[in-house]
Amino acid sequence: MNDPAFLARQRLYKAETGTLVWSEPLPSGGNAVVKLYRRRPLLDPIRRRFIPYRVEREYGLLRRLYEHGVACPEALAWSHGRSRVHGRFERLDTREVEGAVPLTDLPGGPASLELAPLFAQVRRMHAAGVAHGALYARNVLVARTPGPGPQFFLIDLAHGRAFTRDIAGSHPGDYDLLDLLLSLKRQGAIDAAVEWLAAYGLTPDAARSLLKRLERHRNERPWRHFRRIETDSRALLAALGSGASRASAATLTVPDQG
Ligand SMILES: Nc1ncnc2c1ncn2[C@@H]1O[C@H](COP(=O)(O)OP(=O)(O)OP(=O)(O)O)[C@@H](O)[C@H]1O
Ligand SMILES: [Mg+2]
Repeated sequence: MNDPAFLARQRLYKAETGTLVWSEPLPSGGNAVVKLYRRRPLLDPIRRRFIPYRVEREYGLLRRLYEHGVACPEALAWSHGRSRVHGRFERLDTREVEGAVPLTDLPGGPASLELAPLFAQVRRMHAAGVAHGALYARNVLVARTPGPGPQFFLIDLAHGRAFTRDIAGSHPGDYDLLDLLLSLKRQGAIDAAVEWLAAYGLTPDAARSLLKRLERHRNERPWRHFRRIETDSRALLAALGSGASRASAATLTVPDQG
């Protein structure tokens, strides 16, 4: 751990009171990105009884996406515990996407890229039955590839929810699209939205009607909370919904990567 080569390859992504994100070398090569949440000690024993660890949920969602061929970091491990430095914590390790930057940090902004392939990835995520829950430009990584265009990776599924079927056209699916479009609009990159939404699979009419809804879409805290409660209720209902939904989960199909 104190080896200078190890320290030189560490990188701090985020340091806030409740969250630390850093990368460190993996023994097998490459780097892991470690996301560590500090938990509030007083609430923790009560919370633990009723609410699953959020890193466990994020781990499960990332694995599901990865298995369905959606571009996202490989989830490596999750754990929880207590340490002298951090107190009670939970931790998620993912494989670092090398050389990737958040879409918000691109020198030319998101408008400098062709974003249709990103919307095709979102379509694949929804086909895999996953609602992201915080699909903003900062939670999309862009990496160079040997191919013609860059590749987009979906990260940060801490607010994600799993469903037993394709969620395109449902409220949780639409909320993801609206959140992403709103964050792109705030960065001045919305002109080609009808084409992006075509890559998601929407007809021009359906795309225009979603863009109308975008004018009223808000994502400040109270709205976010309301929508998360709605999404949770829908996920719960879907999970309670009989063996039929288990069968549909087993036969879930995801469109080919285009
Ligand atoms: N697998 C990864 N590969 C490369 N970079 C990563 C990876 N995971 C996270 N990062 C970097 O760490 C940052 C924070 O990660 P993440 O978004 O998961 O944490 P967060 O605390 O939930 O973020 P926020 O709440 O600010 O959106 C990302 O913006 C990205 O720069
Ligand atoms: Mg994030």
